[in-house]
Amino acid sequence: MQLFKKKSYIQNKKSMIQQTLAIIKPDSVRKNYAGKILSMIDDNGFAIKAIKGIHLDTRDAKRFYSIHEGKPFFEDLVNFITSGPCIAIILEKENAIIDFRRLIGATNPKEADEGTIRKNFAESKTSNAVHGSDCEGNALYECSFFFSGQERF
Ligand code: CMP
Repeated sequence: MQLFKKKSYIQNKKSMIQQTLAIIKPDSVRKNYAGKILSMIDDNGFAIKAIKGIHLDTRDAKRFYSIHEGKPFFEDLVNFITSGPCIAIILEKENAIIDFRRLIGATNPKEADEGTIRKNFAESKTSNAVHGSDCEGNALYECSFFFSGQERF
Protein backbone atom coordinates (compact mmCIF):
# COMPACT_ATOMS: atom_id res chain seq x y z
CA MET A 1 0.00 0.00 0.00
CA GLN A 2 1.30 3.45 -0.91
CA LEU A 3 0.67 6.24 1.61
CA PHE A 4 2.33 9.01 -0.39
CA LYS A 5 1.66 10.43 -3.84
CA LYS A 6 4.39 10.01 -6.43
CA LYS A 7 6.53 13.12 -7.05
CA SER A 8 4.31 15.87 -8.48
CA TYR A 9 5.31 18.19 -11.34
CA ILE A 10 4.93 21.23 -9.09
CA GLN A 11 7.54 20.81 -6.37
CA ASN A 12 6.66 21.98 -2.87
CA LYS A 13 9.18 24.71 -2.05
CA LYS A 14 9.81 23.12 1.36
CA SER A 15 10.68 19.71 -0.16
CA MET A 16 14.23 18.53 0.34
CA ILE A 17 16.10 15.29 -0.04
CA GLN A 18 16.76 13.88 3.42
CA GLN A 19 18.12 10.74 4.98
CA THR A 20 16.61 9.07 8.03
CA LEU A 21 17.46 6.04 10.13
CA ALA A 22 15.00 3.16 10.21
CA ILE A 23 15.31 0.13 12.45
CA ILE A 24 13.33 -3.04 11.88
CA LYS A 25 13.19 -4.05 15.54
CA PRO A 26 13.77 -7.51 17.07
CA ASP A 27 10.03 -8.36 17.28
CA SER A 28 9.61 -7.85 13.51
CA VAL A 29 12.77 -9.84 12.72
CA ARG A 30 11.66 -12.70 15.02
CA LYS A 31 8.23 -12.86 13.38
CA ASN A 32 9.65 -12.70 9.85
CA TYR A 33 8.00 -9.37 9.02
CA ALA A 34 11.20 -7.77 7.66
CA GLY A 35 10.38 -8.55 4.00
CA LYS A 36 6.87 -7.11 4.25
CA ILE A 37 8.17 -3.97 6.02
CA LEU A 38 10.90 -3.47 3.39
CA SER A 39 8.23 -3.85 0.72
CA MET A 40 6.11 -1.07 2.34
CA ILE A 41 9.23 1.11 2.50
CA ASP A 42 9.88 0.50 -1.20
CA ASP A 43 6.23 1.07 -2.21
CA ASN A 44 6.38 4.47 -0.52
CA GLY A 45 9.34 5.73 -2.54
CA PHE A 46 12.24 5.42 -0.09
CA ALA A 47 15.68 4.49 -1.47
CA ILE A 48 17.90 2.27 0.70
CA LYS A 49 21.32 3.92 1.11
CA ALA A 50 22.75 1.46 3.68
CA ILE A 51 21.48 -1.68 5.38
CA LYS A 52 22.77 -4.26 7.86
CA GLY A 53 21.71 -6.74 10.48
CA ILE A 54 22.97 -6.01 14.00
CA HIS A 55 22.41 -7.31 17.53
CA LEU A 56 22.93 -4.35 19.89
CA ASP A 57 24.51 -4.96 23.29
CA THR A 58 23.27 -3.12 26.39
CA ARG A 59 26.03 -0.50 26.29
CA ASP A 60 25.32 0.49 22.67
CA ALA A 61 21.54 0.38 23.19
CA LYS A 62 21.86 2.80 26.14
CA ARG A 63 24.05 5.06 24.01
CA PHE A 64 21.64 4.97 21.06
CA TYR A 65 18.61 5.76 23.24
CA SER A 66 20.47 8.15 25.58
CA ILE A 67 17.87 10.93 24.95
CA HIS A 68 15.33 8.69 26.74
CA GLU A 69 17.56 7.97 29.76
CA GLY A 70 15.67 8.58 33.01
CA LYS A 71 12.23 8.04 31.45
CA PRO A 72 10.06 5.34 33.02
CA PHE A 73 10.20 3.14 29.91
CA PHE A 74 13.99 3.38 29.39
CA GLU A 75 14.89 0.00 30.92
CA ASP A 76 12.15 -1.84 28.97
CA LEU A 77 13.28 -0.09 25.79
CA VAL A 78 16.90 -1.18 26.25
CA ASN A 79 15.90 -4.74 27.20
CA PHE A 80 13.67 -4.99 24.16
CA ILE A 81 16.07 -3.58 21.56
CA THR A 82 18.84 -5.93 22.83
CA SER A 83 16.52 -8.98 22.86
CA GLY A 84 17.55 -10.11 19.35
CA PRO A 85 18.97 -8.97 16.05
CA CYS A 86 17.47 -6.00 14.25
CA ILE A 87 17.98 -4.43 10.81
CA ALA A 88 19.32 -0.88 10.57
CA ILE A 89 18.68 1.04 7.35
CA ILE A 90 19.44 4.50 6.01
CA LEU A 91 16.50 5.67 3.90
CA GLU A 92 16.51 8.58 1.47
CA LYS A 93 13.75 10.53 -0.27
CA GLU A 94 12.22 13.98 -0.25
CA ASN A 95 11.12 14.80 3.29
CA ALA A 96 12.25 11.34 4.40
CA ILE A 97 12.08 12.09 8.13
CA ILE A 98 8.46 13.18 8.39
CA ASP A 99 7.27 10.83 5.64
CA PHE A 100 8.84 7.80 7.33
CA ARG A 101 7.35 8.81 10.70
CA ARG A 102 3.97 8.96 8.93
CA LEU A 103 4.51 5.53 7.37
CA ILE A 104 5.50 4.10 10.78
CA GLY A 105 2.42 5.37 12.62
CA ALA A 106 1.96 6.33 16.28
CA THR A 107 4.25 4.93 19.00
CA ASN A 108 1.23 3.18 20.51
CA PRO A 109 0.00 0.77 17.79
CA LYS A 110 -3.55 1.08 19.15
CA GLU A 111 -3.45 4.72 18.02
CA ALA A 112 -1.71 4.05 14.68
CA ASP A 113 -3.53 4.86 11.43
CA GLU A 114 -4.66 2.15 9.01
CA GLY A 115 -1.98 1.25 6.49
CA THR A 116 0.94 2.15 8.77
CA ILE A 117 3.70 -0.29 9.70
CA ARG A 118 2.85 -0.22 13.41
CA LYS A 119 -0.85 -0.75 12.72
CA ASN A 120 0.05 -3.84 10.70
CA PHE A 121 2.88 -5.33 12.76
CA ALA A 122 3.33 -3.77 16.24
CA GLU A 123 2.00 -5.18 19.52
CA SER A 124 2.61 -2.48 22.13
CA LYS A 125 4.45 0.76 22.84
CA THR A 126 7.60 -1.21 23.62
CA SER A 127 7.27 -4.02 21.09
CA ASN A 128 6.52 -1.61 18.27
CA ALA A 129 8.08 -3.12 15.14
CA VAL A 130 10.15 -0.20 13.83
CA HIS A 131 12.05 2.95 14.70
CA GLY A 132 12.37 6.15 12.66
CA SER A 133 14.41 9.27 13.43
CA ASP A 134 12.23 12.13 14.69
CA CYS A 135 14.18 15.20 13.48
CA GLU A 136 17.14 16.19 11.31
CA GLY A 137 19.66 16.36 14.16
CA ASN A 138 18.73 12.93 15.45
CA ALA A 139 18.68 11.48 11.91
CA LEU A 140 22.29 12.60 11.37
CA TYR A 141 23.38 11.23 14.75
CA GLU A 142 21.51 7.93 14.33
CA CYS A 143 22.72 7.26 10.74
CA SER A 144 26.31 7.84 11.88
CA PHE A 145 25.75 5.70 14.97
CA PHE A 146 25.16 2.63 12.79
CA PHE A 147 27.04 3.30 9.54
CA SER A 148 30.50 4.46 8.52
CA GLY A 149 30.98 6.27 5.20
CA GLN A 150 32.25 3.05 3.59
CA GLU A 151 29.05 1.20 4.47
CA ARG A 152 26.82 3.64 2.57
CA PHE A 153 25.90 3.20 -1.11
P1 CMP B 1 11.27 4.43 18.94
O1 CMP B 1 10.70 5.03 17.72
O2 CMP B 1 12.30 3.38 18.80
O3 CMP B 1 11.87 5.59 19.84
C1 CMP B 1 11.87 5.58 21.23
C2 CMP B 1 11.11 4.44 21.77
O4 CMP B 1 10.72 4.56 23.11
C3 CMP B 1 9.81 4.26 21.02
O5 CMP B 1 10.06 3.79 19.74
C4 CMP B 1 9.06 3.32 21.94
O6 CMP B 1 9.44 1.98 21.71
C5 CMP B 1 9.56 3.78 23.29
N1 CMP B 1 8.56 4.60 23.95
C6 CMP B 1 8.27 5.88 23.70
N2 CMP B 1 7.29 6.30 24.53
C7 CMP B 1 6.95 5.24 25.29
C8 CMP B 1 6.02 5.04 26.34
N3 CMP B 1 5.23 6.03 26.75
N4 CMP B 1 5.96 3.82 26.90
C9 CMP B 1 6.77 2.83 26.48
N5 CMP B 1 7.69 2.97 25.49
C10 CMP B 1 7.77 4.16 24.91
